[in-house]
Amino acid sequence: MFKRFWLWLGRFLGRTLLVLLVVGLAGWGIAEAYYSWKFSGPVASEEQIPADEAGYTAGIIEDAIRVVEQHRDNTRVLRDAHAKAHGCVKAEVTVRADLEETLRHGVLSEPGKSWQAWMRLSNGNAYPQFDRARDARGMAIKLLDVPGGKLLANPRHAREQDLVMFNHPAFFVRDVAEYQSNFAAQADGKKALAFFPSWDPRSWEIRHLAIALKTLSPAPNSPVETTYNSIAPFKLGPHNIKYRVTPTPENCPSYAIPKPNTNLPNFLRSSLYQQLSLDRMPACFALQVQRQNPDYYMPIEDPSVEWDERVSPFETVADIRLPAQDFDSAEQNLFCDNLSFNPWHALPEHRPIGGINRLRKAVYEAISVYRHDRNAVQAQ
Ligand code: HEM
Repeated sequence: MFKRFWLWLGRFLGRTLLVLLVVGLAGWGIAEAYYSWKFSGPVASEEQIPADEAGYTAGIIEDAIRVVEQHRDNTRVLRDAHAKAHGCVKAEVTVRADLEETLRHGVLSEPGKSWQAWMRLSNGNAYPQFDRARDARGMAIKLLDVPGGKLLANPRHAREQDLVMFNHPAFFVRDVAEYQSNFAAQADGKKALAFFPSWDPRSWEIRHLAIALKTLSPAPNSPVETTYNSIAPFKLGPHNIKYRVTPTPENCPSYAIPKPNTNLPNFLRSSLYQQLSLDRMPACFALQVQRQNPDYYMPIEDPSVEWDERVSPFETVADIRLPAQDFDSAEQNLFCDNLSFNPWHALPEHRPIGGINRLRKAVYEAISVYRHDRNAVQAQ
């Protein structure tokens, strides 16, 4: 009797697994075919601004303030995103001496020119959590003493050019409308459910949920050991580009990053401190750009779509070096917290483009002003 039951159970489980496997493979095949059809063909090389876009921004700012207040610690109001810093370090950004003529625009106009900069390295979450938690890792760079008129009129940022990135190449929403509904749901404590706004399957954003899950990845051994992407597009003079910063340890004296103790809450700060401050070893990166080729599916208005590197490979335009330095002092950490990065702190030659960037213009400014007011300090 028991033997027959176990045999039946075994057959039942085996068949169920087989059916699940076939359904899974068929779903995957259909999704692949659908997206290679949907994401093919030429795209616009100009921005296309939906009529209702601006209307969403005020609501998003309100939700962002709600998130900031939910996550503040007892004394300070933190950023709405990328609240936890691993450190702010000094960096030198040197334009490639052999930079191709057509890429010489804005801060890249002068081959061989070196810019002094601040670099803030962070975890993506609105809440400062243990580094071992799955998360995006951020890098924000502020080039200093950059002459020329900027896109934002704020005199405090009049001589800055910012680059703001995290370490996944695609964004988890396509446009401002989707960001608004997703972010409002997240602010209400929904997580995966934010990607299923209604019972209507046509509103389900399964591909975007997959991107969000991939974005939340395990920590690297060090913040200098991962590639950071602009994700959204920008101008570079006449070109539409995306940019990224990728480690180039081969350009620095050889250094083996020690395996961190991932049980410690702040091991990413510790590995940066070990390398730059204790071992006095520099870290190296390359700044690279990828040009849009509008004959292929490289859209401006949908940063959830990665631009195909086989069509348009990344080209190195500058080298970045973090010299050996002391950075982990109370004063510098506070200074770092009070910095404001914004992709719109930019020369017109580097204008942010696309809906998600248009949204960021108002939101970054509003949140920065809000947290500085609440902390009763002047923005740096
Ligand atoms: C391309 C997509 C995006 C990337 C690569 C990105 C990356 C980052 C990074 C690295 C930071 C930390 C900057 C620092 O170190 O101070 C940051 C901050 C922030 N991000 Fe984003 N982000 C993106 C999209 C968005 C969007 C769509 C919103 C909301 C509309 C947003 C809202 C914010 C806010 C409010 C801050 C804090 C600003 C401050 O208080 O100074 N981000 N982002």
